[in-house]
Amino acid sequence: MQSDRRPQLIWDLPLRLWHWALVVCLAGSWITAEAGFDWTTTHFYFGYSALALVLFRLAWALLGTFHSRYATFLASPKQVLAYLRKAKDAEPSAGHNPLGGWASVAIVVLIGLQAGIGLFISDDIFYAGPYNTVVSSSTADWLAGWHHRLFTLIQITALVHVLAVSWYTWGKKEGLIQAMLHGKKTLQVHGAEETVNEHRGLRALLLLALAATVVAILVYVAPLPDYEIY
Ligand code: HEM
Ligand code: HEM
Repeated sequence: MQSDRRPQLIWDLPLRLWHWALVVCLAGSWITAEAGFDWTTTHFYFGYSALALVLFRLAWALLGTFHSRYATFLASPKQVLAYLRKAKDAEPSAGHNPLGGWASVAIVVLIGLQAGIGLFISDDIFYAGPYNTVVSSSTADWLAGWHHRLFTLIQITALVHVLAVSWYTWGKKEGLIQAMLHGKKTLQVHGAEETVNEHRGLRALLLLALAATVVAILVYVAPLPDYEIY
């Protein structure tokens, strides 16, 4: 068994770019939602981009490098509980720890739901998502309520996420935030299979193009809206 303590590439470049692009899309969706009617079309574009990023992440969960794959880090409930009992003194994980792994999937699901719901709602005045006419107005109102509530949940989750990674970075000195920037962590890596030595950039570009195309087609084939613009 190989055991080595030096900076190791953990997060491939596509995963890191994806992470910061997701942060930009969420911030953009939030700002444009607050900014008033003139910004609604831009809000839709940020939302479509977030949806494409979610689709990309699901594909990257299967086709990305070792630590980006969900199968690598999704732990059993027993492992999560065991980790929670000793989180303060636990050895740094190479990729996500058992709790962080599930948290990362939860964030992706929440954002996917939020963007998916957005497709069906309207502001009842000027703008409607592309699938608004597919649902009754009472269903659309109900979904709009969820678009609002889910966003609050996303804000809380993002805040807890930032507090957690800050604790690991400055409290436990594990360099998590730096690793989401340059990709590397200095730790004990057990076994060559845990070492990432490629980024799979071309594959990532193709998958991103595919994800964007799926979202574009989804919007393009949507029924004609009752509203002028969408
Ligand atoms: C992850 C992506 C998204 C986020 C974070 C997000 C966030 C938000 C927020 C915070 C609001 C204001 C809600 C309120 O205060 O009631 C809003 C409103 C709205 N969003 Fe999104 N949104 C996203 C995606 C989308 C998408 C993809 C669409 C449609 C294509 C969309 C359509 C709308 C509409 C029509 C409103 C106005 C609803 C109303 O006036 O009740 N959103 N969004
Ligand atoms: C809108 C805000 C944010 C969202 C939605 C978000 C979302 C995510 C997601 C989904 C992951 C998991 C990556 C994966 O899929 O494998 C992740 C990981 C990570 N994020 Fe964020 N993030 C946000 C803001 C931030 C900020 C502001 C920072 C830095 C201060 C940060 C630092 C990190 C780090 C260090 C990790 C890796 C955690 C680990 O090692 O387990 N994130 N984030």
